[in-house]
Amino acid sequence: MFGRRSNEPTPPKRIAPQPAASAPQAAEMKAAAQPRQQAPAAPPKPEPAPEPQRKHSEEYYDVKTTVFNALIDTIDLTQLAKLDSSAAREEIRDIVSEIIQIKNVVMSIAEQEELLEDICNDVLGYGPLEPLLARDDIADIMVNGAATTFIEVGGKVQKTGVRFADNQQLMNICQRIVSQVGRRVDESSPICDARLPDGSRVNVIAPPLAIDGPALTIRKFKKDRLKLEQLVKFGSITPQAKVVLEVIGRVRCNTIISGGTGSGKTTLLNCLTGSIDMDERIITCEDSAELQLQQPHVVRLETRPPNLEGEGEIKMKDLIKNCLRMRPERIIVGEVRGPEAFDLLQAMNTGHDGSMGTLHANSPREALSRLESMIMQGGFQLPVKTIREMICGSVDVIVQASRLRDGSRKITHITEVLGMEEETVTLQNIIVFEITGEDANGKIIGRHRSTGIARPRFWERAEYYGETDRLARALAESEVADSNGNPLGEQNA
Ligand SMILES: Nc1ncnc2c1ncn2[C@@H]1O[C@H](COP(=O)(O)OP(=O)(O)O)[C@@H](O)[C@H]1O
Ligand SMILES: [Mg+2]
Repeated sequence: MFGRRSNEPTPPKRIAPQPAASAPQAAEMKAAAQPRQQAPAAPPKPEPAPEPQRKHSEEYYDVKTTVFNALIDTIDLTQLAKLDSSAAREEIRDIVSEIIQIKNVVMSIAEQEELLEDICNDVLGYGPLEPLLARDDIADIMVNGAATTFIEVGGKVQKTGVRFADNQQLMNICQRIVSQVGRRVDESSPICDARLPDGSRVNVIAPPLAIDGPALTIRKFKKDRLKLEQLVKFGSITPQAKVVLEVIGRVRCNTIISGGTGSGKTTLLNCLTGSIDMDERIITCEDSAELQLQQPHVVRLETRPPNLEGEGEIKMKDLIKNCLRMRPERIIVGEVRGPEAFDLLQAMNTGHDGSMGTLHANSPREALSRLESMIMQGGFQLPVKTIREMICGSVDVIVQASRLRDGSRKITHITEVLGMEEETVTLQNIIVFEITGEDANGKIIGRHRSTGIARPRFWERAEYYGETDRLARALAESEVADSNGNPLGEQNA
């Protein structure tokens, strides 16, 4: 059979100096050294999705180790890696069934299937991660050492029964992931960002920095990013607030989307770009391409981390600077984290109206101070007042995304930057989300309402684009009346 070892097996070669490894470990490493030719084949029966809570018994892992070791003794993994993945699976299937028979392992057909799947995943793919990667409902996968894996589903973080044989197996899988993008993770370079072939973002931090074993975090790539309509359906915004956002996107307001980790910033940015006219030239700058623009005239740029020798890094700042020489009409920055804030603001007030970016902050006010400190990080010796004036002159609107304590995601503020009062930037909320209570299940109850601003500062822009009717209607319909029928304004709220 192809892939079987000859009578004189050569000892598996190790790819990195390691303490003596057991056979399966060495084989793991060998497999890790093989670049994967293609994305892991979908499991034969992807539905129904495996129960994340189920945990295998200790015996299962014992049997798996036995079978795995026997398999390693029988086949040559380097040969196997040369096969395409379905052929390799067939090969493994044959041998594993044989081993189970020879070793007299008592197992139901279902258990056998599962064992086979597990082993294929270990040899050919991302091991125990495969079933999680195959699920579309998972937003994040968080592996905290071999024994503990959490996932986020529907805004809630939950523990799964997924576990790795040991930290070495987990490390080998991490290594396999990062080697695909030409990187390496080990004790000497224990921090690494990478990407899965499907676009999911990966971060690995290994011991000794991660004390309890390698920590692997995956933000899963959404094939279909949520649309504004879906955000309305989920109650993240009202239909009226959706219209306000659409107008903001269309009439070329410079917009900052602010929010915490996983609050839905990228999703929202993607939604906002949906209202951009089809004839505009758009340039996107991201650390890892996540945006999915619908327009025909888009150039996508991505930063680059330094290579193994520490050279060749291209930062966000470099991209934005270069953008300006590419005759953009709008610049969209995935995430503003540092000194590039200065370049984005500059782009915003030098004729690239309608540029957008996200940043990490918990309120619109905090977003302003984040911008300020990011500009100062860049080493500009500018007085604070000048920086604030620059922010005021560039940013029109801040949209705040939040993940509430019940796991729901809401757009909590649509806020305008009005101007300066002495040294302070003045903000004006247009629509806010108000929490009114909590139901018996801990679900947060609240409402979105307009603050009574009938004519936002971007009214003139809206006029220019013929959007005032839509805007006025949406704002009027968002007003919530008090018990006397008077609209509740910001002041008397
Ligand atoms: N309003 C929403 N309702 C439900 N799920 C959402 C909402 N916004 C985003 N998500 C989901 O939350 C996860 C994180 O969203 P993302 O936009 O990547 O967050 P961020 O960029 O703030 O880290 C994604 O899986 C996304 O599909
Ligand atoms: Mg994001």
